Amino acid sequence: MKITAQSTSPSEVQADWLVVGVWEEEGIPQNLQSLDAQLGGAITSLRESGDVTGKSKELTPLLTCQGIAAKRVLVVGLGKRSHADRFALYAAAAATARFINKKKSARVAFVLPEDAPNLNASDMALSLGAGFAFGAQGPWLHKSKVDRFPPEELVIVTSADVVSAVQRADIENRAVNLARELVNMPPCDLYPETFAERARQVAAAGGFECIIYDEKQLEGQRMGSLLAVARGSDRPARLVVLRHKAGGSGKTLGLVGKGVTFDSGGLSLKTTDQMLDMKCDMAGAAAVLGAFQAIAELRLPVNVLGVMALVENMPSGKAMKLGDVLRARNGKTIEVWNTDAEGRLILADALSYAVDLKSSHLVDLATLTGACLVALGAEVAGVMSNNDAWSDQVQLACRTAGERAWPLPMFPMYTEMIQSDIADIKNTGGSRYAGAITAAKFLEEFVGDTPWVHLDIAGPAWVEKENATRASGGTGCFVRALIELARTYGSV
Ligand code: BES
Ligand code: MN
Ligand code: ZN
Repeated sequence: MKITAQSTSPSEVQADWLVVGVWEEEGIPQNLQSLDAQLGGAITSLRESGDVTGKSKELTPLLTCQGIAAKRVLVVGLGKRSHADRFALYAAAAATARFINKKKSARVAFVLPEDAPNLNASDMALSLGAGFAFGAQGPWLHKSKVDRFPPEELVIVTSADVVSAVQRADIENRAVNLARELVNMPPCDLYPETFAERARQVAAAGGFECIIYDEKQLEGQRMGSLLAVARGSDRPARLVVLRHKAGGSGKTLGLVGKGVTFDSGGLSLKTTDQMLDMKCDMAGAAAVLGAFQAIAELRLPVNVLGVMALVENMPSGKAMKLGDVLRARNGKTIEVWNTDAEGRLILADALSYAVDLKSSHLVDLATLTGACLVALGAEVAGVMSNNDAWSDQVQLACRTAGERAWPLPMFPMYTEMIQSDIADIKNTGGSRYAGAITAAKFLEEFVGDTPWVHLDIAGPAWVEKENATRASGGTGCFVRALIELARTYGSV
């Protein structure tokens, strides 16, 4: 979907849909008054009758419109102006797109709302553009007959200069939808080799460096923990290293993603219900690739390193067993208590590799634990870190991008839970308590002194049931947060 900006007055814009936002508990905004007059006061009277309240995501279509250039008008509630933030506008725009894409349309024009206390025209254009594009797209990759229709073009109508915001919305949209597409792809099509190949193509098109390591090379890199997970599958592991070098000799932001293209649990086999969505277990790696595409297109003046750890977790005669002891790349020994705690095993080696490649700061993204959903619910990522200042900066980027993440504690005492009798550590906490944190404590063993943030995205990476603002399936979560982080990284 193309996103553009144009400064025509609302009543003169040619479009299949003209979308206008109204705030809750306010009259018709200044910038819509002449449109309302052309429509014979239609919006005002709907407002007065109580049909249009301006409540967030409320949608009121006016299907027959005379006196204006657009064929139809859609009035969307934006909520209270004083509460408006990027998250709220993104959600309102996504709901709009999910309404509009039920039928075919070529051109949708969205009138940019007037400024709110926390949002200027550029913030609004970015959120509306990215949110609308998100809502328009869905998981119908392999349907013979698609019943949703993303419009061809979104025009943001404003007299403000939002050219760069619109360009950024377009870039963010394609990055998020790349991550979503990868998450939605069936595991018979997307496995470590094909995922790595896709990364190669994205890197070639985007002009950033991409090196793919096969199992032989990973053995040479002593990645015994990652390879132990891969061993149960007929699909060989891959590790993909991405580089965007535009920050001169300055520091390097390292992004590490869990890329388990299918998580059966291994010998600690999941049930059918638990396994059903486990093609989503590579959402961390997909977020890293999506973010890289955008960071390169935006030519952000930073050095970024990406490490995608790609494996399939399967049971077989060659699979790792409970009680096995693995030797990770950094020399630490790991006793396997549960083969379904595989994400931390592959990240152990990927993180220590990212440290050795001289990351100054690290962020890892992983659909790591069901326990994180128990703690925070399905729409919030867990944030765990060894460095408060770095954690604050990552959380600020998430907030700015309108993505929800919340910290969990990392008290030293949790480390006791992953002590092993025969090895340095074991790969579970041994009980259901504090499962998201013990997983993070395990990862912490592999980052040394490097400031590091772990985002457990097991909840937000995937939508089980669609709703007004989100299609089901992959969400592309934290791609926008990573782009925002790379944008602000210079100021640590
Ligand atoms: N990929 C799962 C975590 C997950 C669960 C992601 C639900 C998305 C939705 C992970 O590999 C896993 O199986 N974790 C185990 C860890 C346990 C064995 C210590 C879990 O959460 O049950
Ligand atoms: Mn697992
Ligand atoms: Zn997993």
